Amino acid sequence: MRTQVAIIGGGPSGLLLSQLLNKAGIQTVVLERQSREHVLSRIRAGVLESGTVALLKQAGAGDRMDREGQPHHGCYLSSDQQMIRVDFQEACGQTVMVYGQTEVTRDLYEAQDALGATHIHGVENVVLHDLKTDSPYVTWDKDGASHRLECEFIAGCDGFHGVSRRSIPDDVRREYEKVYPFGWLGVLSETPPVREELIYANHPRGFALASMRNPMLSRYYIQVPLTDKVEDWSDDAFWAELKARLPADVAADLVTGPSIEKSIAPLRSFVSEPLRWGALFLCGDAAHIVPPTGAKGLNLAASDVHYLSQAFLAYYGTNDASGLDGYSQQALARIWKAMRFSWSVTTMMHRFPEHSDYDQQMQRVELDLLSADPTARALFAQNYTGVPL
Ligand code: FAD
Ligand code: DHB
Repeated sequence: MRTQVAIIGGGPSGLLLSQLLNKAGIQTVVLERQSREHVLSRIRAGVLESGTVALLKQAGAGDRMDREGQPHHGCYLSSDQQMIRVDFQEACGQTVMVYGQTEVTRDLYEAQDALGATHIHGVENVVLHDLKTDSPYVTWDKDGASHRLECEFIAGCDGFHGVSRRSIPDDVRREYEKVYPFGWLGVLSETPPVREELIYANHPRGFALASMRNPMLSRYYIQVPLTDKVEDWSDDAFWAELKARLPADVAADLVTGPSIEKSIAPLRSFVSEPLRWGALFLCGDAAHIVPPTGAKGLNLAASDVHYLSQAFLAYYGTNDASGLDGYSQQALARIWKAMRFSWSVTTMMHRFPEHSDYDQQMQRVELDLLSADPTARALFAQNYTGVPL
């Protein structure tokens, strides 16, 4: 087989890149380890920046999002019983869209089907070859047979545990990592959201987040120790803990019900540099991970794809390679801003086992600033709704 751009990974990054390239007449083949059903069963992010919304529309995958997504004009940060509202429109003139990653992925798969794009699912033992030559290729196993795909470029969109990043030699790659001493236990339930807007809650018992997917589907998270297992948490125990961490008037309105999904995600900040090595370009979680507190993971994946797709369009359109040459530096500048924001909101909102009284005071002052100072709210809102591409 032969293509122009081989894409490893059929998550949001790989699908969006494939869609933008196919729309411009550039051939791609997407290689995905899991089945489509498996990819669509993963419940992950829920908040889209306006730049991500624009990109999905540009990709021809925005119609259902326009109909079913919920534009949000603000969010709450709670500090024990106090609720601080950040009005995004007042603070920075932007909004976000609440629309789940699962739905984004479904829309992208459907848009790809409509274009007749090539996806191969169930690939195993993917190996990237000859990345420093003009004729790179990818091999994999499927159904007991070996396969080979020749290409001009490879986009590594295969997430944190993928093979692409590790195909860059150790002496070229520089990794930066911070692992947080807790995880998030998430529950999806067919209940009305407790408030119309998201609530990020700082509480002595630990962080909590009240989010949503639609008027009858809620998504809630609580901070848990890394040693906790999903099986340790009955639905009743989860609801009791969530109520304890939300302000009392909010907790009183919480409608509970059976969980339809429950999972624990560890929190990590991670960047691998550079994003390009020869014919290989990394995008999304393959290159970087943010703790979910700032709702940046999926949005950063989308901004990488924006820069890389523009670079491929210039290369295949006018033989201009400057975008490909500049991709790593351009994307990393935005990635590090999102790293800072995600780290700072995580630090401001969680209980850290090692935190002293001094650290608690710092959290209090940060939240007081957001409550009292429009400039602090503007900075938060600019970062939350997304710094310009
Ligand atoms: P992924 O979604 O990881 O997709 C990579 C794809 O590559 C996967 O489909 C995988 O099966 C495939 N793959 C992996 N290895 C190979 C291989 N060797 N060969 C072929 N295919 C391969 N972000 C938020 O903003 N809010 C959240 O609440 C949130 N929750 C999250 C919860 C979890 C458990 C995780 C893991 C992430 C969460 N994120 C969240 C982050 C967000 O979901 C990611 O940033 C986003 O999925 C990145 O998209 P991606 O396409 O780059 O990577
Ligand atoms: C969701 C997840 C987040 O990490 C976040 O910051 C906001 C919303 C969610 O899954 O709805």
